[in-house]
Amino acid sequence: MSTASRGQWSGRLGFILAAAGSAIGLGNIWRFPYMAGENGGGAFVLLYLGCVLLIGIPVLFSELAMGRKTERNAVGAFRALVPNSWWPAVGYLGIAAGFGILAFYSVVAGWTLGYLGHAFMGDFGAAMDADASGALFTGLIGDPLQAVGYTALFLLLTILIVRGGVSAGIERASKILMPALFAILLVLAIRALTLPGGMAGLEYLLVPDFSELSAGAVMAALGQALFSLSLGMGAMVTYGSYFPKEENMPQAGALVALADTSVAVLAGLIMFPALFSAGLDPAAGPGLVFVVLPTVFNSLPAGTLFAIAFYALLAIAALTSTISLLEVVVAYFVDERKWKREKAAWVLGGVCFVLAVPSALSQGGADVFTSFLFDTSFLDIQNIIWGNYALSIGALATCVFVGWKWGIPKAIEALEASGHRMAFASAWGIVVRFVLPIAIVVVLGFIVSTGRYF
Ligand code: PFF
Repeated sequence: MSTASRGQWSGRLGFILAAAGSAIGLGNIWRFPYMAGENGGGAFVLLYLGCVLLIGIPVLFSELAMGRKTERNAVGAFRALVPNSWWPAVGYLGIAAGFGILAFYSVVAGWTLGYLGHAFMGDFGAAMDADASGALFTGLIGDPLQAVGYTALFLLLTILIVRGGVSAGIERASKILMPALFAILLVLAIRALTLPGGMAGLEYLLVPDFSELSAGAVMAALGQALFSLSLGMGAMVTYGSYFPKEENMPQAGALVALADTSVAVLAGLIMFPALFSAGLDPAAGPGLVFVVLPTVFNSLPAGTLFAIAFYALLAIAALTSTISLLEVVVAYFVDERKWKREKAAWVLGGVCFVLAVPSALSQGGADVFTSFLFDTSFLDIQNIIWGNYALSIGALATCVFVGWKWGIPKAIEALEASGHRMAFASAWGIVVRFVLPIAIVVVLGFIVSTGRYF
């Protein structure tokens, strides 16, 4: 299919915003802080940053190179590079992971819509202590009607944008809203850091205590680095495939990684000071952000306005991520199975909704899903299976493919196709071929040897 009919970003900025839009989302603001809180704070943060640098960024460039060279989706890219092989299976795993992630991500994204509703009703401007905030949260997520309804609404918004196509839909939304999100996070971080007792949170976040580290924490940091950058499932293959020929890809990729990591760190700078100030437990799990933040709005002048702006922007950040999740799957059906984009968006979005219902009901709505396996909720299990394991295996396979099958020189050629040089290209090649596969295998091996998968 020609580039023109597949669609293309309007330029480098369009790509950066759309790819940063995919990367920045609930992963940074919801998942990162609670994972850090559950896994010991500072030591986790350090590990996470290490994983971003040593694993995330190299995988990002591997995926972008494949997308640019082939102008195909997650499956088609493997197929185009080595026809008649089993390598496209890696792409299929990616598509499954995209579906799996979308099916729980849209539930949490739905909660942000519920919170936006509360913000409009002025619920966060009034006195809201940790207890009241906790009660509001459990009330919302435990109500089957609201949980499923908001999930449906969120998926509907996602479908409506994805059916509009790459540039018109995805890019336009990201252009205005990502910078606005950044600005509001900055204000919230300053407020949180100046709360009484906030400095203890800063210390928790920045001073590593390695006695807290476990194999599970290392796995979580690896999974989080990949999840946050939207890697290991072909999203960046797909987004890279729409990248304009004449633009500087290595630089654009680096900017996306920088923007994503800064937002995660910024979210941590809000969450931990606020949490210590409110006397909450950092290891509270997936509800952490939703319970902590209202206590910050409460302490701001014009708290209601901040709450409205924040939840609107968080919902939009989540939307630019769900768009990319659905886009991975839609792009496959459009390119490889010749479906119309419109049909693909509706059918696949609809199927995803069905798969999302158990997760939506798993937070108090229906007992079977609340404590599904290993005393863990259905939503959490999906989060770990797809978000940590599937992405790690996908990233490992992608790098083995790029490093050993397709070849580093060809990948570098694709990345440098516009004539812009890639910095550290040979170091990147060594990491992709040796360091990264060994690191991921070691982490997975640790998990298998401890048997503590969740
Ligand atoms: N990176 C997104 C976030 O951090 O919220 C989540 C995500 C989007 C993961 C797209 C994977 C993906 F393909």
